[in-house]
Formats: sequence, structure tokens, C-alpha cells
Amino acid sequence: MAGRRMISPAPEPPFLAACRRRQVPHTPIWIMRQAGRYLPEYRQVRSQAEFATLLRRPELAAEVTLQPLRRFPLDAAILFSDIMTPLQGMGVDLSFEPGPVVKEPIRTDAAIDGLAQLVPERDVPFVLESVRLVRAGLPSGVPLIGFAGGPFTLFCYLVCGRPSKEFGTARSFLYASPESAERLLARLADAMAAYLRAQAAAGAQALMLFESWAGLLAPREFERFALGAVRRTVAALQGIGVPLIYYVNQGSALMECVAGLDVDVIGVDWRAPLGVLRRKLGPGKAVQGNLDPAALFASPQDLRRHAGRVLDEAGSAPGHIFNLGHGIWPETDPDAVARLVDYVHEATAR
Ligand code: CP3
Repeated sequence: MAGRRMISPAPEPPFLAACRRRQVPHTPIWIMRQAGRYLPEYRQVRSQAEFATLLRRPELAAEVTLQPLRRFPLDAAILFSDIMTPLQGMGVDLSFEPGPVVKEPIRTDAAIDGLAQLVPERDVPFVLESVRLVRAGLPSGVPLIGFAGGPFTLFCYLVCGRPSKEFGTARSFLYASPESAERLLARLADAMAAYLRAQAAAGAQALMLFESWAGLLAPREFERFALGAVRRTVAALQGIGVPLIYYVNQGSALMECVAGLDVDVIGVDWRAPLGVLRRKLGPGKAVQGNLDPAALFASPQDLRRHAGRVLDEAGSAPGHIFNLGHGIWPETDPDAVARLVDYVHEATAR
């Protein structure tokens, strides 16, 4: 039939349109750490296998990635994996207890130079296989986000060796041995570029860098070390054709520095209102955030009010992706997530 050729292509999914600051039928929403311990069905899978095993078994990783999408009409999926996974591919011996613990923390030039170069297809093929499996199981309107740790956040775990409140050993390393620090950060930046590129080639439709700990830095050190390294990653990804998201936790004082980074979206925590952050970032960036994860413990009525305030602060300019300001807490009631997703969709339907 002649008419068949006239069928217009499927509309761009709202999440991808918002990343590119285009008009959307509703504000898209997904939840940081949406695949995880607040879901009984995740705990069920997890009771059969260690976390480290889940990461390496594509059919299990894909199942866990898809679990939140079966419950909630979320606008994006995020791959079930961990920011530390590619480091294991570079020869780092680590375990999850439940946070990452590095057996031999990296603090010397010899240890830095001993890190293997990451060849994703060879070293972490199971991640790429998970991406392919998830894509095959996702509806076309729900894009898959691939991710990596920000170079400085990975540096924090590698140098300190375990989770920490202040990451003092990592931060003092920047001042004591700045050239060595830059060397390690450059290695990580290059490895994450290769890792993200491989995820996109396998089917990831957006790429996110989680810079969970760069907010601990003073502005000049943030600029030199954290931003210097992430610029290197981003430069290596130019022309990749999928939106890039840079999430910086506790970064509200760093927005002017971040505004110049060549990414599409800046993810932010809840410590400053989105309106203020958007003004600092300027019109060239979309924003993702920024409800306090604690707000999911409010009464249904209050939760709507808190979420409504985030929407008001985001304003009417295109380019807002609703999210929490950091990962969802394991104690959260999944029904609160359901209410939040429905509310954001209803309140913003255009
Ligand atoms: O977002 C998702 O649902 C996808 C999967 C994902 C995990 N970790 C699974 C995970 C993602 C995107 C991450 C990112 C991650 N991992 C970050 C950046 C985001 C942030 O929260 O700041 C960081 C800093 C890590 C390091 C890490 N891995 C920590 C600190 C922990 C322990 C405690 C915790 O936060 O859950 C992990 C383990 C981990 N990563 C778990 C999960 C589901 C828990 C493992 C278990 O089931 O025991």
C-alpha cells in the first residue's frame, strides 16, 4: 500500500527529548538506584546469588534492570551494574561488603602503572551482553542508560580502599602527590571513555557519569582534578550520538565550573533549588533531579507537595528530567515510588 511509507517514525522518547532540551509530552522521571534493595523482587534474586555474581550474569543483571520497569511507568532504565566493575576488568582485586573494598589500595606510581588498560569487549564482556539483553526486553519508548563512575569518585575508592565519609586519604593524596594523582585520574578517564563507548556500541541510549564524591573538593581542586579528568573522558566521547549526563553530588557550589563541561545534562543533589542551579548552568544544559530521597517517607499528600516544588523550581523551559538528588534508600516503600511517578506524569501532562 502506498500509504505505508507515510507512517511517521516513532516519536523520540520523552527522556531523550528532555536530555536534548526539546518539548516533551510530560516531564520524564527515573530514579537513581532504581534497580535494587528497596524492591522485594530484587531481594528475592539477591537471596539466590551474591551481588558480585549478579553483575557477571547477564540474564540476572538484565532481569534486575527490568524489575522496576515492570512495576512503575518509568521513562528510562539504568543498567544493573556497579561503578567498580570496570576496575575489576583493569585487574583491581575488590569485594563488595556491601560497599566496595579494594584489597590493595593504589597509592604509588608503580601501582598506578600496574593498572591494566581496559579493553571492554575482552575484560567486561558480560556488561555489554547485559546491555544487549536489556535492550531486547525494553519497550521502545523506554531508553537504557549506561553508566560509569566519575574518574575522581573511582580515585576515591582506589586510593582509600573502602567507603569513607571524607575520603581523607584520597584528598590528601591530591595535595601530597598532585602529579601522581593526575596520572591515575588520566588513566581512569581514558578507561571510562572506552567503557562508555563500548556500552553505547552495545545499545545504551544515554550515558551517565556518577561523580558521587567530587563535592568534597574545594573549587580549585575540583576544577584541576575532578573536572580535568572528566573533561578528558567527555572529549574522548564527542560525536558519540547519545546524550551525556554528568551527576555531581554536593555540587551546588561548583555549578559555574560544571557549566562549561561539554555534556547535555547535569544531575544535581537536593541541597539547592533547581531554579538557582539552572540559572548558574545557563540555557545550554538540561538538569536532572533533585528531590531529597528522604521525601519518599512523607505522607502521600506531602510527597506531592515536595515533588510539586521541584517541578515549580525546574520552571517551564525544556530540559528537566525528574529524579531524586541521590540514590533511593533501601528502606523506601515501593508504593511511594509508584505515587511519585504517577504524580510527576499527571502534573506535567501537556
Ligand atoms: O542505579 C541502579 O539501580 C543500577 C545499579 C547501580 C549500583 N551501583 C548497584 C549496586 C549503580 C548505578 C551504582 C552506582 C554506584 N555504586 C555509585 C554511584 C551512585 C551513588 O549512589 O553515589 C557508587 C558510589 C557505588 C559504589 C557502591 N556499590 C556502594 C557505595 C555500594 C554499597 C551500598 C549501596 O549504595 O548500595 C555498592 C554496592 C551496590 N551497588 C549494591 C547495588 C544494588 C548493593 C549490593 C547488594 O545487593 O548487597
